[in-house]
Amino acid sequence: MGRRGQEVGGEDRLTEFSSTPEIGNAMAQKQHFDLIVRNATIIDGTKAPRYRGEIGVRDGRIAEIGMLDEASADVEIDASGLVAAPGFIDAHTHDDRLLLSDRDVVPKVSQGVTTVITGNCGISLAHSPKPQGEPTPPLDLLDSEGNWFKFQSFRAYREKLEAQPPAVNAACLVGHTTFRVATMDRLDRPASDAEIRAMRDMARESLGWGAIGISTGTAYPPAACAPTEEIIEVCRPLKEFGGLYVTHMRNEDDDITRSMAETFTIGRELGAPVIISHHKCVGTRNHGRSPETLALIERRSREQQVGLDCYPYIASSTVLRYDRLEQSSRVVITWSKPYPEFSGVDLEEVAQRLNVPKSQAVEMIKPAGAIYFMLDENDVQRILKYDDTMIGSDGLPHDAKPHPRLWGTFPRVLGHYSRDLKLFPLETAVYKMTGLTAAKFGLEGRGVLKPGAHADITVFNPDTIIDAADFKNSTRPAVGIHTVIVNGLPIWRDGRPTGERPGRVLTRSAGRGPGAVNSLNVV
Ligand code: ZN
Ligand code: CU
Repeated sequence: MGRRGQEVGGEDRLTEFSSTPEIGNAMAQKQHFDLIVRNATIIDGTKAPRYRGEIGVRDGRIAEIGMLDEASADVEIDASGLVAAPGFIDAHTHDDRLLLSDRDVVPKVSQGVTTVITGNCGISLAHSPKPQGEPTPPLDLLDSEGNWFKFQSFRAYREKLEAQPPAVNAACLVGHTTFRVATMDRLDRPASDAEIRAMRDMARESLGWGAIGISTGTAYPPAACAPTEEIIEVCRPLKEFGGLYVTHMRNEDDDITRSMAETFTIGRELGAPVIISHHKCVGTRNHGRSPETLALIERRSREQQVGLDCYPYIASSTVLRYDRLEQSSRVVITWSKPYPEFSGVDLEEVAQRLNVPKSQAVEMIKPAGAIYFMLDENDVQRILKYDDTMIGSDGLPHDAKPHPRLWGTFPRVLGHYSRDLKLFPLETAVYKMTGLTAAKFGLEGRGVLKPGAHADITVFNPDTIIDAADFKNSTRPAVGIHTVIVNGLPIWRDGRPTGERPGRVLTRSAGRGPGAVNSLNVV
């Protein structure tokens, strides 16, 4: 079981290699590497101050960091004037299908991302219901046709990823909402005991095959009727496998603190680390509440493991829902099945063109997606700045006119928030997208530049890096990413993908079970 993971990971080779690290300049003479990043300013992902150095890579791992003038390499990358950092880890994605349908993963790789966390907000391709007509929203965010809903187990999904690997690594969550849609005849009620047992079996299968945790999305109708007890009972196997509980909470507006309390209770009850997804205070009434929510997180963090992620924008995005309108100053349509021509158009204008009130326009153009301007810049900055906040894009890769976070999140944090607004030093910005994220998600040997670590490296220009995607031109690639390396192989150079696809399925180092035993992350 799980042998495939071992083959793809080449674990034996890597373990043997990492047990004989060659550290220090004395050894540098006559050394030969697969790849050297030369003349770099190194920001190592731990928040430590930057330093000058060169990185020697062999067999997919960082073999040495130092001055390697005497050494040679098959591939040399000149990073003069540039920063070399650990490859960025996108803490919050909906890339389950993108990894299979666009294996160069350009929206992410062009930003310097080398690992994505999939299966967020309660929805995953793994354990999807069998295709039968239009998928239940929000499952349609992954695939509006439902043609990719062909993985009725986590094992099937993982084996597909490993048989046709993408350019980036993936650490995968499975979604409670997906379990519900696959299990229940109606979703407007709590699950029965038998349904809970069926969903718990799905959870156990997934964690056993290397899923890193379970996500929930009780804010969305298919899971809104799931009581706290249902979630706890479905997620029971988390403790046994050392998995994470990751949640798009039931409420992020008026009831946000009650939802946070529910989240912490679930984590404690399960004995599982908790991650609050895309933390934000939604709606004008709740603007300015982030000091309160962050204080709550800080307090709970003393008693249990808590993490959170955030995207660097004041607009959110998901499926089109009428109840979100009153909380938004502006709504822009990202896709519509019956009216594709309205992608990128303000709802205001849609209503005018259809000559109906906005409420009716919403009903007419559904199924659809939207961007909602509903957050406060001060809250966004305060949350981004909080010590434990990781960066996650929450990008929606299949929207016709997506929220720009899909293409811009990481360069925006580095260029706009760190360099231009000086919200935090560049070292901190990098930490929030590398070392911190790897630690919170238990991805050993990732997120840091040190000998023995996996060679996931992003080389960027600190003076020019910036997001180029905005709400008008939402798919413009970011500026300033020079080279992106995954498991020792360049996947992005000269502003385009190299065609290499060395991505692996990553499992949690704290995890246990067939997937975890063959963990690709043993350092
Ligand atoms: Zn979400
Ligand atoms: Cu999400």
